[in-house]
Amino acid sequence: MPILKVDIRAKEYLTSKGEGLLVMSDLNFEIKRGEFMCIVGPSGCGKTTLLNIMAGLDNHYYGSVLYTGERTRKVNSDRILIFQDLGLFPWLTVRQNVEFGLRVRGMSKSGRGKISRKYLEMVKLGKFSDYFIHELSGGMRQRVALARALAVESDILLMDEPFSFLDAQTRDTLYEELQRIWAITRKTIIFVSHNVREAVCLGDRVLVFSASPNSKIKAVFKIDLPRPRLIESEGLMSEVRPIMEALKPEIGRSHG
Ligand SMILES: Nc1ncnc2c1ncn2[C@@H]1O[C@H](COP(=O)(O)OP(=O)(O)O)[C@@H](O)[C@H]1O
Ligand SMILES: [Mg+2]
Repeated sequence: MPILKVDIRAKEYLTSKGEGLLVMSDLNFEIKRGEFMCIVGPSGCGKTTLLNIMAGLDNHYYGSVLYTGERTRKVNSDRILIFQDLGLFPWLTVRQNVEFGLRVRGMSKSGRGKISRKYLEMVKLGKFSDYFIHELSGGMRQRVALARALAVESDILLMDEPFSFLDAQTRDTLYEELQRIWAITRKTIIFVSHNVREAVCLGDRVLVFSASPNSKIKAVFKIDLPRPRLIESEGLMSEVRPIMEALKPEIGRSHG
């Protein structure tokens, strides 16, 4: 059974002019447990909208999203968590940030400590647990956010262009780190990107969206390259090219 089965018949927004905007329709796909799925598409095609729907944050659509066969209707961090880089609290230490969600749930101090240690070690920030967020580099902040997302121990991680504001070098390191962590934790990851190379480097599959309005899945590419994959490796290019070709006319049509 797929961990997620997405069947969105139609998703509309009401614009400020009071008109309906059909963002997407007839979107059908399944995600296997443990899969790393990347989604690429032009700006404004509805990628963030789709993540919100999958997370259960947006229920205003026609269709269904099934989590292990059941309908998802509300946010449930046991299952699905959206990974955002902006949610770190600057007045808390690294460790307190990672433990925040666990504290909200009422977990004991020792329980929280055990989990935060585990995941801070995993993202290689064990030595920085008492630092404040403003003392960290952009890449380190991403690692804290990742550790915090992992600490909740949800099955699925939804990541919305998480590395877009980092410099290239930091980003390349994080591609390797994310693959390593994915391999250890066996999470299901759904990763939105606007960079095809990044999507090929990370994904088992790459799903290409067409431009809005009324976006659809234009193509799905299976990436069979051995792991761990390096972003600069020659082998990526042959997989990148056909995806670029599918995406290019859509970026041309998009006004996002
Ligand atoms: N809350 C909203 N109300 C009205 N329109 C929205 C809202 N959120 C997004 N949109 C519109 O829906 C489309 C898809 O947006 P979004 O999911 O953010 O795209 P992407 O993440 O692919 O860039 C865009 O045209 C955007 O302007
Ligand atoms: Mg977006």
